[in-house]
Amino acid sequence: MSNYHIKNLEEYWQVYRKSINEPEIFWSEIAEEHFLWRKKWDKVLEWDFDKPSIKWYQGAELNITENCIDRHLFNRADKTAILFEPNNPQEKAQHITYKQLSERVNKMANVLKSQGVNKGDRVCIYLPMIPELAISVLACARIGAIHSVVFAGFSADALATRIKDSGSKMIITSDGAYRGNKTIELKKIVDEAIVDIDIVNKVLVVNRTKTKINMKNGRDIWLAPLLIKSSDICEATIMKAEDPLFILYTSGSTGKPKGMVHTTAGYMVYSAYTFKNIFQYQEKDVYWCTADIGWITGHSYIIYGPLANGATTVMFEGIPSYPDYGRFWEIVEKHKITQFYTAPTAIRALAKEKLDYVNRYDLSSLKILGTVGEPINEEAWHWYNDNIGKGKSPIVDTWWQTETGGIMISPIPFSTPTIPTYATLPLPGIQPVLVGNDGEELQGNNKEGKLCMKFPWPGMARTIWDNHKRFKDTYFSEVKNMYFTGDGALRNAVGYYRITGRTDDVIIVSGHNLGTAPIEDAINEHPAVVESAIVGFPHSIKGNALCGYITLKQYGESRDHDNLKAEINQMITERIGGIAKLDQIQFTVGLPKNRSGKIMRRILRKITLGDIENLGDTSTLLNPEVVELIIEGRAVKV
Ligand code: PRX
Repeated sequence: MSNYHIKNLEEYWQVYRKSINEPEIFWSEIAEEHFLWRKKWDKVLEWDFDKPSIKWYQGAELNITENCIDRHLFNRADKTAILFEPNNPQEKAQHITYKQLSERVNKMANVLKSQGVNKGDRVCIYLPMIPELAISVLACARIGAIHSVVFAGFSADALATRIKDSGSKMIITSDGAYRGNKTIELKKIVDEAIVDIDIVNKVLVVNRTKTKINMKNGRDIWLAPLLIKSSDICEATIMKAEDPLFILYTSGSTGKPKGMVHTTAGYMVYSAYTFKNIFQYQEKDVYWCTADIGWITGHSYIIYGPLANGATTVMFEGIPSYPDYGRFWEIVEKHKITQFYTAPTAIRALAKEKLDYVNRYDLSSLKILGTVGEPINEEAWHWYNDNIGKGKSPIVDTWWQTETGGIMISPIPFSTPTIPTYATLPLPGIQPVLVGNDGEELQGNNKEGKLCMKFPWPGMARTIWDNHKRFKDTYFSEVKNMYFTGDGALRNAVGYYRITGRTDDVIIVSGHNLGTAPIEDAINEHPAVVESAIVGFPHSIKGNALCGYITLKQYGESRDHDNLKAEINQMITERIGGIAKLDQIQFTVGLPKNRSGKIMRRILRKITLGDIENLGDTSTLLNPEVVELIIEGRAVKV
């Protein structure tokens, strides 16, 4: 039996028990047997959730790219590492072998060095899903620079916030991005973002779409000529175990986004270990995760986890609906995909279309299906199981977070019996607990509470960039000596976990975490607006959609409300991105508030759902009259 590769349920329990009873031995054996170290650790784990301070593999030295690339050059040099499938199906797919990946990453790393990037510097990467994105990420890791990838769907303002917060002095971008039949002008967005940011002194530009762009003298440089000149040999920078590997921003319920910091050794071990078990990867498999590398799923399960296991990992530039709704399945057939990992929102969108889009293609190569990012509803689960997996491919419903670095609760395929909507059991090393309203741990089964973790795991984030206090306040203060996930969960009669959703003001729309506060801030900037409150409501494809209650300054004036709605959504698109647009807007004279002035979102949520019977006692509110007005939709006089 191997700790590293679990093959049946009995092994799972044995390995799980060992991981709990002897965590340090467990994680030490895994690290020792499956990774390349320049120097071994002196101490496996040191932790204190009160500070919080979490350190794994202290004293160890390594470079993650030697694990993801160099070591495969001995036995997998000509194996495809990254299989790039372009947006346009007429454009040829690229098979980048491990040898080629090594050369391209080294060249890129040398370019970064030649442009003044040093160990510990932050590099912001704002690229579409093209090979240069993965290569830039790995090149940063090669020289110890800290990558901060920003999803290329984010607006100039959102990008600016992340550049400033991380203190990135370089940005890697492209002229444009293809997205279905659209071309997005990425470089233009970067130009806008950095107008007032003087720390950025270099912008490297990939030529992807041949879009006409402005190049600022001395700051903007085309990447291709630099790469041609640069050497394909680059000695890996030796990193300490706890040196930061990357920053990745995630929305918080308040304030600006949180730059989650992941460090080198623990993240590597955890992303690789979970990849191996969740996807049961075998040497000839072709694995495809449809996420964008701008999210943690792309970091851990397109780049680091698969490459650390010598896998072939697909990068898809396009979208599921272009040129038609059969695109995913066409790619599965074309590349004989064996593991397919996507989001419930994509499944729901595709399930709405004719089954013919699926049945046109041969999906018999598929062995394992995965989902991530939000709860998967039963209907979508069955559609996926019946039509894509043909009832023979286990579905792994994987629960985790940007903060956790890797999958935490999930079935292990062919081992854990699945139940639709249940993420099932914790992975080895993971100790979930449910906590009641009084902070007490809920023992036994058939319980529901706040989902917390009582013991560290190697992949967990170590801090929030430049704001350790916020890290403590957000994750380690809700429940004493525990990591609080922000999710609620229930544990059923056999100990399976089902995630019931966020317990804070984060709303998951199409699998994207959106904090309500930044959206409200964007709305409130509109000159016609006094204040606003956002709540989520169920949506058949997005999972949740957003409804905004907005107090206007000149309520009741004969202003064109449709125009105003469009302006508000435009404002949100500019400040955050199209993903945060509101589906419903109700203008109002006021928002329900308690005596201390806090907006009662709970009441607004119920009104949005039409659950007005259960609003509770509203007479104690500061302004009970607005509740009636909002319910009756009379809050707006047009
Ligand atoms: O609420 C949970 C939900 O997504 C949140 C984490 O979002 P993010 O940091 O963007 O990472 C997404 C990709 C890992 C969680 O707190 N979530 C994620 N996976 C699931 C889920 N909810 C239910 N079931 C899941 N499988």
